Amino acid sequence: MKVDTISTAAYPDQVPGTSGLRKRVSVVRQPNYIENFIQATLDAAAAAAGGPLELVLGGDGRYLNREVIATVLRMSAANGVRRVIVGAGGILSTPAASHLIRKHGISGGILLTASHNPGGPDGDFGIKYNVANGGPAPENVTAEIARRAASIETYQISQDDAPAFDTPGRARLGEMEIEVVDPVHDWADLMEQLFDFAAIRELLGGGFRMRFDAMHAVTGPYARELFERRLGAPAGTVVNAVPLPDFGGGHPDPNLTYAADLVAEMMGANAPDFGAASDGDGDRNMILGRGCFVTPSDSLAMLAANARLVPAYRDGLAGIARSMPTSTAADRVAQRLGIACFETPTGWKFFGNLMDAGRVTICGEESFGTGSNHIREKDGLWAVLFWLNILARRRASVADVMRDHWATYGRNYYARHDYEGVPTDVANGIIDRLRAGLAALPGRAAGAHVVSSADEFTYHDPVDGSVSAHQGLRILFADGARIVVRLSGTGTSGATLRLYFEVLETEPANLERDPTAALAPLVAFTSELLDLHKRTGMAHPTVIT
Ligand code: G1P
Ligand code: ZN
Repeated sequence: MKVDTISTAAYPDQVPGTSGLRKRVSVVRQPNYIENFIQATLDAAAAAAGGPLELVLGGDGRYLNREVIATVLRMSAANGVRRVIVGAGGILSTPAASHLIRKHGISGGILLTASHNPGGPDGDFGIKYNVANGGPAPENVTAEIARRAASIETYQISQDDAPAFDTPGRARLGEMEIEVVDPVHDWADLMEQLFDFAAIRELLGGGFRMRFDAMHAVTGPYARELFERRLGAPAGTVVNAVPLPDFGGGHPDPNLTYAADLVAEMMGANAPDFGAASDGDGDRNMILGRGCFVTPSDSLAMLAANARLVPAYRDGLAGIARSMPTSTAADRVAQRLGIACFETPTGWKFFGNLMDAGRVTICGEESFGTGSNHIREKDGLWAVLFWLNILARRRASVADVMRDHWATYGRNYYARHDYEGVPTDVANGIIDRLRAGLAALPGRAAGAHVVSSADEFTYHDPVDGSVSAHQGLRILFADGARIVVRLSGTGTSGATLRLYFEVLETEPANLERDPTAALAPLVAFTSELLDLHKRTGMAHPTVIT
């Protein structure tokens, strides 16, 4: 194999965020853009690993996936990578990639995904590096990637083409071994070890009807293997099951806005018993019952409360972790179970240290992410199986499980309002002004809720002592209500302002209120406090979840 050393010039915007580098397709198509970033990633990864790399490689199948897989293979071979395990067709869901890294005990993985962001020529593309524990690269590694990308002058690539990677088998490119694996098999086996498949099979064979919407994204083949083959659900249980490079023109984000068809079916006459969806790369989940929606914050709490029904968690949980904006429903479950509940900044990577140290077993975020220490990413289908396992063992409906839970622990009414595409200076101005006014908030009232304290969240990692500041502004009320305000770290154009609202209700007569009405006083308070509509020029949020 001959290697070309190509001269290149750095792109100043190659700074990976919380979920790797995520850019418009038009941006990544600039000359050498992808090659520069891959070179920086391989160099930083080799420095972190302290020796030759062995990598997992795969993506969510979006536009450019195949081309970039071939480029990464050619550059890996040219840069002395010893072995690459690649998903057949260049496909791997994010949870499956995390599992393969851990299963093979290798240096890390390159994941081509922009998660739930739209795909296609006008959509987004993303490149993410995960480390040896299977989780997203920590900040010191992403900073090193950014540093190398900023000063890059050359990259190396093999002159030979990459071998075909469509079917499982072994190949070489120069000295580098390439192992093409079935993208689904190993991860599906892991699921069989965790959950009570016999009970779920019996449930699905007994008239219980479910629908899974793969949103034309990566989970189609995974869901078909699980539900329709291994668990015996009828063909057609999985809809939109064929992954498409542009996700069929949709926005592969499983929430009430973007999974509207599934929501309509679940709320309609003759709705199935259970509905679920996942996102572009398979790490997010949305859970619905007949006529009802489970908020992700509630889902985390309910999974935790019922964990002993699942074989893998039969001996109980070491602890729970949730991101700061996620509702405090899980905290009360932890309290009752007598285990710790950790509050971390937004982003899955903060859970990794806690799981590696054995301090938590399950984790979740309000943004439709739930997972456990079986891997180091969130796992959409894992959450779906967890719910099915609970329903199968309890012989109860989703609505029953929710109602029981609220009666025991109280209910956290919850909503997130996103204002997308806000000019960056306007968004920063809103945050700066609120930050400056935090000290004056205690004592102020939003309807019947009175502010008890307000601060900016700083996280002290209990495992490695690292400190992450500026992780969102929070306004806490004496009765357990909360408002959180922060800026998104994953957008690709302008700024996204996220507002999170939560009201804790423990009065038995008030557990079935309309969530919008329950949250209205907090929403009105925030609009006025931030002077939101005047400053953003937007009368309503772009997305409510
Ligand atoms: C969003 C979610 C966050 C999640 C991340 C990656 O980040 O809010 O919970 O971990 O996507 O999926 P944000 O855009 O808010 O920074
Ligand atoms: Zn995702």
